[in-house]
Amino acid sequence: MKIVVKKDYESMSKAASEIFIEAIKVKPDITLGLATGSTPKGMYKELIKVHKEEGLDFSKVKTFNLDEYVGLSHDHLSSYGYYMDNEFFNHINVDRRNIFIPDGKAKDVEKHCREYDEMIINAGGIDLLLLGIGVDGHIAFNEPADALSVKARIVRLAQSTIEVNSRFFNSIEEVPKTAITMGMGSILKSKKIVLLANGVNKSHVIKKLLKQDKVTPKLPVSFLLLHPDVTVIVDELAYNG
Ligand code: PGA
Repeated sequence: MKIVVKKDYESMSKAASEIFIEAIKVKPDITLGLATGSTPKGMYKELIKVHKEEGLDFSKVKTFNLDEYVGLSHDHLSSYGYYMDNEFFNHINVDRRNIFIPDGKAKDVEKHCREYDEMIINAGGIDLLLLGIGVDGHIAFNEPADALSVKARIVRLAQSTIEVNSRFFNSIEEVPKTAITMGMGSILKSKKIVLLANGVNKSHVIKKLLKQDKVTPKLPVSFLLLHPDVTVIVDELAYNG
């Protein structure tokens, strides 16, 4: 695991965007795994800028998102589908047919999850995956548990996640209690992984990760220690506390 410490949020975002830009240039039909939340917003801004100013081409890029709240359609303002359009997809030339986000309104969620896994396999797996990290060590919505499923599935959100994510809703009561998440299998089979963390509230979990020499489902991010190509990019606040 490679750790890169950047001065602030802007330089963390820029460093991450450079990895993505280079990868898209090398493989224009790349399959990306994409994250939501506060952390990647700056990186998406950088990618949009390079698309607008230098013509970075997304027309052949395929994207799979990490997760979505159960019960929210993609036009709900707090859904991750809406977030992705707003923060990224509406501003680049991605082909809508190449965008895949779990459907929080799927009638048969189990079937939908199976199909999501199959679509990732049929795309040849994820070439480059972007991850954030929860204060409890979750990646995507793989929350600390006794065991972690390799498959996409419906999960119950940890109370800490509900509390932290309530900032994206009018009230904590509105935060869905369940979500669809990409499983640990698709995550760990990604060829390259970039994990971002910024801000003092992430310093505790980043310290834990950097000290960690065991994999444990109690700290889902610890499984990244088994992966051969992970770059963790953090700002000084997340690194030093
Ligand atoms: P955040 O979320 O970027 O909003 O901090 C990260 C996560 O929960 O994975």
